[in-house]
Amino acid sequence: MKRHLIAAAALCLLAASQLAQAADAVKIGFLVKQAEEPWFQDEWRYAEQAAKDKGFALVKIGVPNGEKMIAAIDNLAAQKAQGFVICAPDVKLGTAVERAARRNNMKVISVDDRLVDGSGKPIASIPHMGISGYAIGKQVGEGIVAEIKARKWNMAEVGAIRVAYDQLPTAKERTMGAIDALKAAGFVAANVIDAPQAKTDTESAFNAANIALTKNARFKYWVAVGLNDEAVLGAVRAAEGRGIKADSMIGVGIGGAKAAENELNKPAATGFFGSVMISAKEHGYQTSVNLVNWITGKAVPPAEVQTKGMLMTRANQAEVRKQMGQ
Ligand code: GLA
Repeated sequence: MKRHLIAAAALCLLAASQLAQAADAVKIGFLVKQAEEPWFQDEWRYAEQAAKDKGFALVKIGVPNGEKMIAAIDNLAAQKAQGFVICAPDVKLGTAVERAARRNNMKVISVDDRLVDGSGKPIASIPHMGISGYAIGKQVGEGIVAEIKARKWNMAEVGAIRVAYDQLPTAKERTMGAIDALKAAGFVAANVIDAPQAKTDTESAFNAANIALTKNARFKYWVAVGLNDEAVLGAVRAAEGRGIKADSMIGVGIGGAKAAENELNKPAATGFFGSVMISAKEHGYQTSVNLVNWITGKAVPPAEVQTKGMLMTRANQAEVRKQMGQ
């Protein structure tokens, strides 16, 4: 009888501790603006790896617009998630994100695109991990300049397409950094053609670049910059459509995810010369771990982390991937 009682008590204790564990379990959301983009799929993949390594639950949600974003945050709260990492569909939704998190008692970290308030100032209470848009953009421009020189092109005969999405601060900084690097090497401002894209995908970039190319047929050679690989790929495809191929086009993107990988591994070189690879691993894995540590009271995340990039071309892809740990 006594033995039975002890066994029953032990079972109760076990059940109670399992319950406590379940109640303590950490659950976070990872919300991205463009779930179909390889970059964001990589971020999710690395967040999943972190969830497996550290033992927390992860909910991935695509949030293509503000309405879906708010619904996703409330849905996470209903699922008892304690926080989320977010790349919002529009940085101006910053105050709405901050409010939704506060209302639901959740912690929030932004990734990639830094959230701003009504006056356009970064929201200090939301820790951020992203790149220095200007510095990474400069790396793009410097890569292009080195290749222009290697090909011995006369800069006066080169047009530069800036596939622009200036309403997103990091996009503007990236492309301006690239153009500043071109100008620092002697590129004249008049040869820079702005091609504003309606959305940040390849199709919109293609359409924007097509117009720029049509209006500026005077150039012998072209270079192209944009906020990401998709933007530059759009410009490269548009140029191809007009007979401007690998030998007269130097496009350098930003990202280094699948879109760039596919392009750089085509049997023949295209106008997509390279990409400044940035760290989807840090943006996906480390943001998640930082958020979990914040939730569990282990550590408050740094207010802002700027991650690094490396120029990746057909020639050095394997080495760059190794060095970036991806
Ligand atoms: C922005 C872009 C993405 C990607 C990330 C990287 O969100 O839209 O394509 O470049 O930045 O931080």
